[in-house]
Amino acid sequence: MSPEPTHQALDFDAVAKKALADMPPETRFGPKDAEVLERNAEVLLSVREAFVKGFYDMLFAHPETRAVFEEGERAEREKTLSAFYERVVKGPHDDEFFAWLAFVGPVHVVRGVTNPMMLAMLGYMVEFVREKTQGLADHEALVAAFTRLAATLGAIITYGYEMAWKKALEHVVGIPPALAERAAHEEATRLFPLRSHGRG
Ligand code: HEM
Repeated sequence: MSPEPTHQALDFDAVAKKALADMPPETRFGPKDAEVLERNAEVLLSVREAFVKGFYDMLFAHPETRAVFEEGERAEREKTLSAFYERVVKGPHDDEFFAWLAFVGPVHVVRGVTNPMMLAMLGYMVEFVREKTQGLADHEALVAAFTRLAATLGAIITYGYEMAWKKALEHVVGIPPALAERAAHEEATRLFPLRSHGRG
């Protein structure tokens, strides 16, 4: 489940730290959010099966996401998502946790899962918690914690995705990451000249 240092193509810890550093602190999952989750662990774990079932029912009902899966794979996927949910709820939410999240992103790149698919399911996660924790004293705090968790995961996943592409460009075609970045920036400026800052 956790990243294996000997086979690392990406420095997961660095990916997580860079993604977190780019986020204003108020938007990041933090120690207070972890406390709220841990305090409500029992109720959150009581709906774990429903979370997993709803997640995969949705992915299997939509042709674009269904196409990612191989025959007979669902049971295994349900197990890993269930373990993910448990780790999210129980913690510990330490550096290793965020590095692991940075590892989970590229795992999906390998299978052709797109960023829109990933971000969509982070939205599902927040909505699920909103619905299942209605009426609890910590309802607002739980929704806020999961919203920040989704933003944090989204930041780490999309950053990991970008890093995986840069690594591939470097490894396969020999383009150094800094050059790829400059080319992307120049190309974007060429395509959208009027949208750069201060030009309306
Ligand atoms: C909120 C978004 C998601 C989370 C948190 C999540 C979480 C995970 C986790 C923890 C694993 C196991 C990683 C490992 O330890 O090897 C995994 C694997 C996988 N997930 Fe997701 N997932 C998400 C979205 C998706 C989506 C949208 C799809 C497909 C449309 C998907 C398809 C898969 C597949 C195919 C694997 C197996 C990868 C492999 O080892 O070949 N996931 N996911």
